[in-house]
Parts: sequence; C-alpha cells; structure tokens
Amino acid sequence: MRSLLCVPASQPKMVEKALTLDCDQIILDLEDSVTPADKVAARAYLKDFLSKVESKKKISLRVNELSSTFAKADIDLICGFNPQPLSSVILPKIHSLEDVKSWAAKLPANMQLEVQIESAMGLINAPQIASHPQVISLAFGPADFMASAGMPSSNPGTPWAEAANALQWPLMQVVIAAHAHAKTAYDGPYFQITDDAGLSSSARTARALGVDGKWVIHPNQIALVNEAFTPSPAEIAHAKEIIDAFKASSGATNLDGLMIDEASKKVAERLLERVAQIHN
Ligand code: GLV
Ligand code: MG
Repeated sequence: MRSLLCVPASQPKMVEKALTLDCDQIILDLEDSVTPADKVAARAYLKDFLSKVESKKKISLRVNELSSTFAKADIDLICGFNPQPLSSVILPKIHSLEDVKSWAAKLPANMQLEVQIESAMGLINAPQIASHPQVISLAFGPADFMASAGMPSSNPGTPWAEAANALQWPLMQVVIAAHAHAKTAYDGPYFQITDDAGLSSSARTARALGVDGKWVIHPNQIALVNEAFTPSPAEIAHAKEIIDAFKASSGATNLDGLMIDEASKKVAERLLERVAQIHN
C-alpha cells in the first residue's frame, strides 16, 4: 500500500468517487471526519453501500473510539454483514494492548485490525500493540498525537518551525514497533491539502524513515503520495547492480567507490520486494 484514502462515510459522492481513484486502499471513516449529528445516516449509507460494493481495492472502515457512545453502533454495523465486505477495521486512538484485545473480542473473529498510534500512551505501548496477531499495521496519527503530547500548532499535524522535525521521532518509533513484528507502518495524513511541496516532502521523509505508505485526505494528494512511495527506475537499477555486484563477490566488494556487503544487499532486496508488492 502506498496511498490510503480516508473518506467521510457521510459523503456518499466522495465514497463512490474513491472507487475510481488511484489510491491503494479506501478508509471509510465514521470517526473524526463525520460529525456526531451525521453518524447515524453515515452508518445507514454504509450498510447499503457495503452490501453491494464490488471493488478490487482494499476497503476498510474506521470506527469511533471504543469508549465513545458511537462505538456500539459501529460494531453492530460490522457484525451485521454476511459475507464480510471489509478487508480490515481501522482502530483509532489505541493506547494499549488491552484496547486491541477489547476490540478484537467485539468484532468478527479474525478480523484484520489496523491500529492508529496517536497518543503519548499509544506510542509508549506501540511494541506490545503491534504484537497482537490480528494487528496487521500501525499508522501514526500526527494531529491527535500533537494534541496528546501537548505540542502547539495552528496546523494539525505540523509542529511550529522551532520543532519542524519533531514528529520524525514518534513516526520512527511506530516504524520500529511495526517492523519488529513484521507488520506494516503508515504515516498519517498531511492536512494542508493545497500544499503539494509540503505533502511531497512529508511523504518522502516518511519513506526515508522506513514507512510503507501514507494516508491521504483529498483525491489530489494521491498521485504525489504514490510517487513518493514508488521506487524510481534509478533506485531499482541501483538495487539490482548492488545485488549483482554482491553475488559476483566473495562477501564484500566495491561498486564505484561504494562498499557493498551483506547489509547493503538486504537493503537492495527489500527495495525490490517493495516494487514487487506495488505491482501485485
Ligand atoms: C489522524 O487521525 C490524526 O489524528 O492525525
Ligand atoms: Mg486522529
């Protein structure tokens, strides 16, 4: 997955349009992008939409926090489907492994769970959260995380210039926790939807940190995020050269002044695995 498009379930036209776009996954949102007054109608729409939808895309549903008054109806909606149309359920504001276990007990057996890490406590517990067998990915939620950590900002998800790179550390923690358990790591959305340069930079930074893909909140963000998370032809060619040079050597070699060893071969192989996944 490179781009995961989060669409409010209260906006049927946007949901229908999402099916035609180049995002790799659609997240139907019942949480923060849907006002409390709109949640009942959004669920009623999803009940109909999901019982008919046919799409090759991965379709997931983001529920409301388990402690909220909305969660019970979200659970009933998901449990009411047969067959189950959802690829996964996105769990926001997960703070502990206990939170995941509580959700897992209420959702259909073996439902794949994709967890948002977006609080100080969630970050501290991210390694345990990632260890749950039904959890397939962790996604960093920059806006809620900043609120939880007490970071001031007039733009959600973007710290003051004085701490411009401050979110790289928690994002990297999420990558480490997810990858330690062979799970996928995602970055959350970039909220300034007309700032293409800022979006590309945010997506490239995430990829540089080992992140596998990024949430998007507007159709115009999809192409830039897909591009940032797709290895370029030059990267692919270089990875192949490294592997060839390593294979032709007796353990370590020199490729145009670059020392190549087992570790560089692994990095190159991981890049080619990523390319294969994207084209699958
Ligand atoms: C996403 O949910 C965020 O809080 O950034
Ligand atoms: Mg959030």
